[in-house]
Amino acid sequence: TQNREHFRPVYHHTPLYGWMNDPNGMFYKDGVWHLYYQYNPYGSQWENMTWGHSTSKDLIHWEAQPLAIEADWLGSIFSGSCVTNGSEVVAFYTSAGHHQTQSMAVSKDGGRTFKKYSGNPILTTSDIADFRDPKAFWNEDAKMWNLILAAGQEMRIYSSKDLKAWKYESSFGKEYGNHSGVWECPDLFKIDNKWVLICNINPGGPFGGSATQYFVGQFDGHKFTCESMPKVTKWLDYGKDHYATVSFYNAPDNRRTVLAWMSNWQYANQVPTKQFRSANSIPRDLGLFRHGEETYVSVIPSKEMLAVRGAKIKNPTEACEILIDTKSQTEIVLSNNKGEKVTMKYDGQQQTFMMERVKSGDVSFSEAFPAVTVAPTFGTVKQLRIFIDRCSIEVFDAEGKMAMTNLVFPSEPYNTLKVKGGKATIYQVKN
Ligand code: FRU
Repeated sequence: TQNREHFRPVYHHTPLYGWMNDPNGMFYKDGVWHLYYQYNPYGSQWENMTWGHSTSKDLIHWEAQPLAIEADWLGSIFSGSCVTNGSEVVAFYTSAGHHQTQSMAVSKDGGRTFKKYSGNPILTTSDIADFRDPKAFWNEDAKMWNLILAAGQEMRIYSSKDLKAWKYESSFGKEYGNHSGVWECPDLFKIDNKWVLICNINPGGPFGGSATQYFVGQFDGHKFTCESMPKVTKWLDYGKDHYATVSFYNAPDNRRTVLAWMSNWQYANQVPTKQFRSANSIPRDLGLFRHGEETYVSVIPSKEMLAVRGAKIKNPTEACEILIDTKSQTEIVLSNNKGEKVTMKYDGQQQTFMMERVKSGDVSFSEAFPAVTVAPTFGTVKQLRIFIDRCSIEVFDAEGKMAMTNLVFPSEPYNTLKVKGGKATIYQVKN
């Protein structure tokens, strides 16, 4: 029944019903991926925030679980994170009441149910209204627990020995990156020999509304030092529908696997879905690459997406993956029998990739929806991977230097593909 609704994605995570925003508290333990999420179980707009919960053995097929953390006298439950500590799973989240404070809850049954800590809140502030989204992690280099959270337009970093008492260490961000909006949902992790600080921002995204920026540098458990000049701004994805990206704690094989919320605060409450509002992006694995003087974060679809690659097909369908071998100029047009279409262009001279969804289907619900998004490709693209589901298009260059995620609401699935300058192979995505 889950797949009958017109825009209900076939292979992206969605709540069974109701509203969802940020992914929260993601972790991997004993062969299971856990995904919590900002959830309104009572309606399809943002309100009554709790933590919903889904689990998966393969990162693609998700099973709905009972609500994990519900509101209490300290407030509703905003975004946060989980760590595993021996046999326990410890959740950190924002209690959004009159003030925003940080709370903690412990699970002794592997993340199914949580008991709130009697000493909540564990972190408070007197000077700032936007104080939220704690991300905790074990810092193996510094041999301590760290926690990073968003405080207005900067990130604050804390340390702890026991996960309960947190010491303020430092703040990052005042002069760095984009400041056109509130900083939210941070993450901080090591890839190879560098540290990456994820900073979701709303508004201020490259094409309006919410988006994910990041910084690359070093972190010693006390202070994050950005290696770029303050004005340098880096985006993890150049589409309009990629927000609140955070990573799984304890992913196997040292992987840095992330999910984003596939929407934009400009119109998330208005998108024309029915039983549910919002899906997550496909899972992605992060790495690093260098271009010019700068180090950037690479984004590739997680290898689990190859496991659901199905038979080769002639024409696009509602759930497929399209590989495009590009030339120096490649134009890709997806369309349906209603004349709705999405145009994409790779320009090897300019080194850009563009997607236009102005006539992609229903665009009427928000003036901010019909849009053209453009990404730098940081070099020559040889192959593109395009993931199509019932209401989304996610494009990656095969080397991971460019990602673009956009929603589309065609009245029927795109069933025609025209490629100028380039060669296409289409695969079904297995449900
Ligand atoms: C980001 C956000 C978070 C907050 C949550 C509330 O989308 O605004 O900062 O914790 O959503 O649902």
